[in-house]
Amino acid sequence: MDASTLLNPERRMLRAMQTSSLGDAWTLEAVLDACQWTDQAVAVGAGHGLQNHGLVTVTETVISEIRRGEQGQRALDEGLLEQRLWAWMQGEESPSMARLQSAFERHEAGPGVGLLKQLGVALDGGVLRADSPESISQAVEARVQFLTSLPSLPDKLDPALLNHFAQRKDLIVQVDRTVRTWSLTKAGAAVAPEHLAESVVITDITPELLQSDEWKTAEFRAFDVTLEATTPRTGRSHPMQALIERIRAVFLEMGFSELVDDYVQTAGWNMDALFIPQDHPAREMQDTFYLDEPASLDVDADVLKAWEAIHLHGGDTGSTGWGGRYSTEVSKRALLRTHTTVNTVQYLARHPHEPCRVFSVDRVFRKEAIDRTHLPEFHQIEGIIMEEGANMQMLVTTLKTFYAKMGCPEVRVRPAYFPYTEPSLEVEVKWKGKWLELGGAGIFRPEVTEPLGIRTPVAAWGMGLERLAMLVLGLDDIRQLYISDLEWLRNQPIL
Ligand code: PHE
Repeated sequence: MDASTLLNPERRMLRAMQTSSLGDAWTLEAVLDACQWTDQAVAVGAGHGLQNHGLVTVTETVISEIRRGEQGQRALDEGLLEQRLWAWMQGEESPSMARLQSAFERHEAGPGVGLLKQLGVALDGGVLRADSPESISQAVEARVQFLTSLPSLPDKLDPALLNHFAQRKDLIVQVDRTVRTWSLTKAGAAVAPEHLAESVVITDITPELLQSDEWKTAEFRAFDVTLEATTPRTGRSHPMQALIERIRAVFLEMGFSELVDDYVQTAGWNMDALFIPQDHPAREMQDTFYLDEPASLDVDADVLKAWEAIHLHGGDTGSTGWGGRYSTEVSKRALLRTHTTVNTVQYLARHPHEPCRVFSVDRVFRKEAIDRTHLPEFHQIEGIIMEEGANMQMLVTTLKTFYAKMGCPEVRVRPAYFPYTEPSLEVEVKWKGKWLELGGAGIFRPEVTEPLGIRTPVAAWGMGLERLAMLVLGLDDIRQLYISDLEWLRNQPIL
């Protein structure tokens, strides 16, 4: 046995035990006393360590103890029922049943009379009478004493009283307790005392220690890395936030810049700029959150005019537009953005001539009924590529690369329709054998780019984040993300 691996408390406990004979049983109290410890955990830990080294053996005995139950504690605090009744009776000149019933509540008066009768009280013409009050007082006192003496071992208690209280509800309970004793083994007795001197052991390696020469002679605490330990709980990102960070990292790595912009927007930029007709059903109050304050926001007059021309007759694009009616007041209505395309299109308006690759991961709002897969507030992964030669193939490759990096290598596209792109695509990802629709993409129409003065093709997409989150995090209910279930949050894999 190499005693140098023993920890200081183990050394101290072994030294104490070596003063006794082989096989002597040491109780926890004896160890605490001999080692001058107050913390039981130190003694139990040291005993455990010595046991692991084969220097002591541990015997665990289960001891049954009698303790006060809930009612037993109450009886001590407020007085045992027969104690209170007996006190009452002694103070009454004529302790009649009627008076007892008015002095005690019904649930006490009923069983109370029974208890008094057991103790030798007689009922005589409606009046309670005690022939030997001395013995009743003694019996009551003995019961109170009994309860006061708890907790106690069963064999130290009066068997008749124990039996009596065992019949009454919740006055006493039997509790099993494990008691450990430690005994020295031969190996433990054989450890030479000079090996058991407590040493100054270094547990923390600090820069100061390493800079000084002290470490050369110091004794370091040995760690047993095979022991079970509790997992430290540290702060960490919410899984949704971690996922967003990962998406950012992927797009940044692919050469995109991030765009962060407001979610309070005008219907003009959210819809008119994207050639969504003013009578489009998605514009209705039941789908879009319009704001009361501000109810409307300013939009550049030239831009308003350009949209109007585009919507009414196609402007200079050669398109025929939507015709019908068009209102610039509608364009100024303030709303919570329903998609992040509202931001990329404004980015293009601010930079109509510089080629760019821009993405955003941000919140959007739609009046959705909340269920397993829908929330009124959710996120989109948006992006644009504006450069000479930007085309569908480039768009599809970009999205396939993105999803492959997110762990979804199987991606397919299908024709789709959006008022602002032509051609348009729907992007689907294969997950567990099923194709799931994750978003839309396409090349912005001239009706979108022309009024902004853009001459270069723009490939654009908008993907749902929540669906992807459900796949990556293995959720079957999106609401799980927002219920702050700490246990679940702690156990989420690191993304
Ligand atoms: N804005 C569309 C949506 O919310 C997605 C999209 C973005 C489609 C860009 C085409 C181009 O679903």
